[in-house]
Amino acid sequence: TEQPQIFKGLAGVVVDATAVSKVNPETNSLLYRGYPVQELAASKSFEEVAWLLWHGELPTAAELAGFQKSERAQRALDANVKRVIDELPLTAHPMDVVRTAVSVIGASDPNTDDSSPEGNLAKSITLFAKLPAIVSYDQRRRRGEGVIEPREDLDYSANFLWMSFGEIPDDVVVDAFRVSLILYAEHSFNASTFTARVITSTLSDLYSAVTGAIGALKGPLHGGANEAVLHIFNEIGFGPDAPARSEAWLEQALAEKRKIMGFGHRVYKKGDSRVPTMRKSMVELIEYYNRPDVLDLYEGLEAAMTERKGILPNLDYPSGPAYHLMGFDTLTFTPIFVAARITGWTAHIMEQLQANALIRPLSAYNGVDERHL
Ligand code: CMC
Repeated sequence: TEQPQIFKGLAGVVVDATAVSKVNPETNSLLYRGYPVQELAASKSFEEVAWLLWHGELPTAAELAGFQKSERAQRALDANVKRVIDELPLTAHPMDVVRTAVSVIGASDPNTDDSSPEGNLAKSITLFAKLPAIVSYDQRRRRGEGVIEPREDLDYSANFLWMSFGEIPDDVVVDAFRVSLILYAEHSFNASTFTARVITSTLSDLYSAVTGAIGALKGPLHGGANEAVLHIFNEIGFGPDAPARSEAWLEQALAEKRKIMGFGHRVYKKGDSRVPTMRKSMVELIEYYNRPDVLDLYEGLEAAMTERKGILPNLDYPSGPAYHLMGFDTLTFTPIFVAARITGWTAHIMEQLQANALIRPLSAYNGVDERHL
């Protein structure tokens, strides 16, 4: 019998329609609800972009004020979430901590199984509000630093940095952070968003879908790449002569058949639409912190990779060094991605439920032929 055609990795397969975002690799553009992401990153707050992804339109002034009020009021972590995090070993990967914390919030919510549009929007706002506190709580715990409670007078981006470092950095830093969150917010049917939609399609709850999505994002072929970029930079080494050392390092890594993290993309083959915007913010940080060696390393490896393989950087390549410069631990980079992508994930979860069909593909059997005992 003839084997059915297999679409390995679902590459090139269109599984459903979405109105949340449009990725166009031909024109190298990414639209959130019709707006180019670069335009949003130039002038909008992360809160406005979250609202846009959920509702399809930017908020009016009154809508934004109402959303900010409820978001700011929910930022602090409940004692049970802190207790569970404290129970986890310091050796746990921060992504495992974030995944566990979201699961605890879900298990503690009396309305977990209310998947009405209002119920799911309320849960989306709760997770949006609390993820920065989870991420910063865990980073401070690892560093042996005391907890810093959220401040209601700060916007999302400034408050995230405040809770992480206990000070409000200069505008250039807050702005680069805001830009990174907007660029990370949404990207159509990537692996973690698809995971969230698969879980949602069984009519499971939003927290379960997000918990699964965090698991998918952790992998280095997906969100874990921003962390992996810094591991590579550390291997090559900061400081003088970075370009020459990058070339030698790359030769060896390719000979060992390693994947070079922060390069390549399933959809973009001519370059990632988000990279120029994030690169600009990274360069501003490099100037602000006076770290030209970071740019040498960044450009050295990029040039070597382009020349050797013709494979271009993805968003994780400039965002990893940017988070490093801001002072985040390398292991905290992917949890920041979670805090950003919660917006896209939850927008997709709500969209999935509007026209749900159980996601259940087929497989081609290639085991032993039928046999009998
Ligand atoms: N380093 C070395 N070789 C690569 C890389 C890379 N980063 N990316 C692609 N290639 C090679 C690949 O080995 C293959 O070569 P060959 O034909 O000789 O086997 C060729 O390029 C085509 O790649 P592919 O496997 O068809 O590409 P894919 O669409 O399956 O993979 C990818 C996309 C993102 C998994 C891959 O590029 C990769 O592993 N990149 C490194 C991890 C990474 O940076 N991930 C972040 C993705 S974007 C943002 C995000 O989600 O966080």
